[in-house]
Amino acid sequence: MIRIFNNEDLTLRNSFHVHQTARQLIEFDAAEDLTEIFEQHITGEWRVVGGCNNILFTDDVEPTLIVPRNCNIEIISEDEQSTDIRVGAGVEWDDLVEWAVSRSLWGIENLSLIPGKVGAAPVQNIGAYGSEAKDCITNVEMFAAEQRKFVTLAAEHCSFGYRESVFKHALKGRVIITNVYMRLSKVPQPKLGYGDVVGEVEKLGGATLRNIREAICSIRRRKLPDTAVTGNAGSFFKNPIVEQAIADKLLNQYPDMPHYAATEGHCKLAAGWLIDQAGLKGFVDGNVGVHPKQALVLINATGKATGCEVIRFAEMVQQRVFEKFGISIECEVNIW
Ligand code: EPU
Repeated sequence: MIRIFNNEDLTLRNSFHVHQTARQLIEFDAAEDLTEIFEQHITGEWRVVGGCNNILFTDDVEPTLIVPRNCNIEIISEDEQSTDIRVGAGVEWDDLVEWAVSRSLWGIENLSLIPGKVGAAPVQNIGAYGSEAKDCITNVEMFAAEQRKFVTLAAEHCSFGYRESVFKHALKGRVIITNVYMRLSKVPQPKLGYGDVVGEVEKLGGATLRNIREAICSIRRRKLPDTAVTGNAGSFFKNPIVEQAIADKLLNQYPDMPHYAATEGHCKLAAGWLIDQAGLKGFVDGNVGVHPKQALVLINATGKATGCEVIRFAEMVQQRVFEKFGISIECEVNIW
């Protein structure tokens, strides 16, 4: 089924809760609806959105917004080791994690409570606590709008990287992800290496699948704002990847600076730490602020922020970090 909304208020449809409207917004329940949508309802530009958890609207949206609402989770095959599933783009990501954990299937538990829809997961290769969506994705099915046909791309052709994929580059604006295929493991494979995860899991009684999910949920609830109460888009910036020599120089000056291995000769730094050290954690200016418990997250502090105000604030944060550390931090959020 297809539902068409005209001049749709986006305030409750975007996690930053900025007040903008969409000229036309089309939701579909079955992937096959896309043929009709493109033949009968779309005349000009279009864009796809999931839950708008990683988009900052700075203006009313002129292109048609397409919203997948296909919500099936199907088991397509299984053996002793693993289960292959096909998941509709409209499934809420955390509902999928709960579905997997309640069936004793491993692989995405560290990605518990990440806001957003399954269709958005491959686009920015969502990641947290030592796992990334790409670790489980086997194929991505999509509707190629120009050719009006469905295509399936194997994970090895998706150019997955840190918050990166082909869907942000060569396929941007050309395809609509309809289903994501994943392989989950029946064999326990706990990933406890990141930060405070192991301690939190121990407190719950050990590394069961359920305890890992609960531990990640409680860490996230402690650090990240509840979107229902405070508008935000999760990490506003990416963690910067810098040359090892630059990291070494900073480490001389700040020996406690968090840093992680990256590609050969490079090092990933924690943007949240850089913003925190620049003295901005909890800082509010007008309607926009830095979250007091995780400096990587910008918040709609009064509920009245506009997208442009958030951008001005973000530029101030980037400038302050650059002045103190000589490091440029890039936005992770999509600015529309
Ligand atoms: N830190 C500070 N002050 C802060 C925030 C962080 O000192 O205000 C330090 C922490 O103590 C830690 C380091 O910086 O040593 C990294 O912090 P954290 O573990 O909270 O993770 P992050 O690198 O800031 C990334 C993801 C998050 C994900 C966490 C956990 C990105 C852009 N963000 O944040 O993803 O939940 O790791 O894996 O990679 C998201 O994408 O929306 C998101 C929340």
